[in-house]
Amino acid sequence: MTGNLIKVTVYRFEAGRDREPRYETWQVPSGEGIMVLDALNYIRQNHDPTLRFRHSCHMGKCGSCAVMVNGRPGLACWELAVDGMVIEPLRGLPVIADLVVERTEVDLDREGLAFQRRGMPVPQGQVERLPLSHRKELDETRTCINCFSCVSACPYVYAEEKEFVGPKRMVEIARHVYDPRQDENRPLVVAVHHGLWDCIACNACTSVCPQQINARQRILDLRSMVMESPGLQGLPRQIRRMNESILTLGNPYHYPKTDKGKWAVGLNLKDLTRGEKAEWLYFAGCAQSFDPRDQEVARGLVKLFQAIGLDFGTLGAGEPCCGDPARYSGEEGLAAHMREQNAELFARYRIARIVTTCPHGHYRFNEDRSAPGQQVKHYTQVLAAAIKDGRLKLRRPSKRTIVYHDSCYLGRYSGIYEEPRTVLAAIPGVKLVEMKDTRENSLCCGGGGGGSFLDVKARPRLSWVRVRQAIEAGADTIAVACPMCRAMLEDAVKNLESDIEVMHISELALLAL
Ligand code: SF4
Ligand code: SF4
Ligand code: FES
Repeated sequence: MTGNLIKVTVYRFEAGRDREPRYETWQVPSGEGIMVLDALNYIRQNHDPTLRFRHSCHMGKCGSCAVMVNGRPGLACWELAVDGMVIEPLRGLPVIADLVVERTEVDLDREGLAFQRRGMPVPQGQVERLPLSHRKELDETRTCINCFSCVSACPYVYAEEKEFVGPKRMVEIARHVYDPRQDENRPLVVAVHHGLWDCIACNACTSVCPQQINARQRILDLRSMVMESPGLQGLPRQIRRMNESILTLGNPYHYPKTDKGKWAVGLNLKDLTRGEKAEWLYFAGCAQSFDPRDQEVARGLVKLFQAIGLDFGTLGAGEPCCGDPARYSGEEGLAAHMREQNAELFARYRIARIVTTCPHGHYRFNEDRSAPGQQVKHYTQVLAAAIKDGRLKLRRPSKRTIVYHDSCYLGRYSGIYEEPRTVLAAIPGVKLVEMKDTRENSLCCGGGGGGSFLDVKARPRLSWVRVRQAIEAGADTIAVACPMCRAMLEDAVKNLESDIEVMHISELALLAL
């Protein structure tokens, strides 16, 4: 190795000998193309021959070298070595020595995954291949190199409940479902048994997979297949009721359709369904339409939009559900129906620009993109743009210490990390701090993937962990940009009897106006 010297800090611990882990820092030469694994090998050869870590192929193929690099799982032979990096063992797995972890195999129901050959007997002398209907998905799941990075990224490593088998095993189950030698219902039963609806669709697994396997989508596929198999038990009652409510009432909360626009009564907003014209559609979203606390958030946003001179209207009582709860719960048919319904509505009222309160609607409309050139923004993007061009001036100072909780949908799904921080940083006097797991490593509040509708013991624990991370960061306020994060974290604050406040970014901006 040649080049400048960089500092690398490595976790040290020997099970059975050490009581506590310690961190040691060494200097190693850096240079173009020097990987974390090269740095570790250099340390062992030149500084400490006792340092232990796994490796084999050096080519990103064997999966043995996965470690945490600056709090994020990845392959040591695939990650570039950078100055100041901290290398730790994969999170959530017992440490044997230094970076070597016990890759405990969760005991899957092997009998349930045994192949069941199907099809008619083949006439003698002929060879018949089984039909392959999910080639792409099967090929994807077959590329898993068992590195356990996704397991380490999954928020369930923080939860004490172990019913959920985790993303790597769900990918394995999905591989069996797509395999034509398999009776697909058998692995689906295994998936349900191992916590199929426990996944909170946070996308952390997918974001770290070195093979780019979309474990989150494969889990949604499994859910969808369970829903389409009438004989199969396992669809949670709350999820079924939520989807029935979306279909019949246009919202997941069982409120009458006619109540949808009531949050805006007295505000005198343009109603685009009555022929009024506006540059932007403000899509308030279901939570903002019915929950009294979220209704206040919507009304506050209206004041901010008016302050920056945004020309906007709403769909009033005609605003449907964005369809995202149907999509992440696996109800693909209903999700497609909502997609068509929304596209038809946007086309009918010639809506080209949409601003949402909720990151879920923002992502759904962006993914579905019903019209060419359609622009969909989250409110934090609209406010950040107004701050940058001077339309929004936050003048009233605040002494708050604020930590921003990156929601999964705004962050990992949509890649929006800066704009929420831009708005908060524009409030005079505030001190912004960061949590341990932040930005792309953000820890889910536990409310995604149907989590806020389900009664799963592990979920509240995730929001408790998050609130504790905020307290450890020294914050007195947790800023959020998502109604689900707001509800989950506020609930956790009450349970933990903390006095930390949970507030929407818009509420904090409004106080500073
Ligand atoms: S989407 Fe999140 S909760 Fe679901 S398996 Fe992946 S990391 Fe775990
Ligand atoms: S799914 Fe991806 S991250 Fe998970 S074990 Fe397989 S290769 Fe590694
Ligand atoms: S050493 Fe084989 S994947 Fe890194």
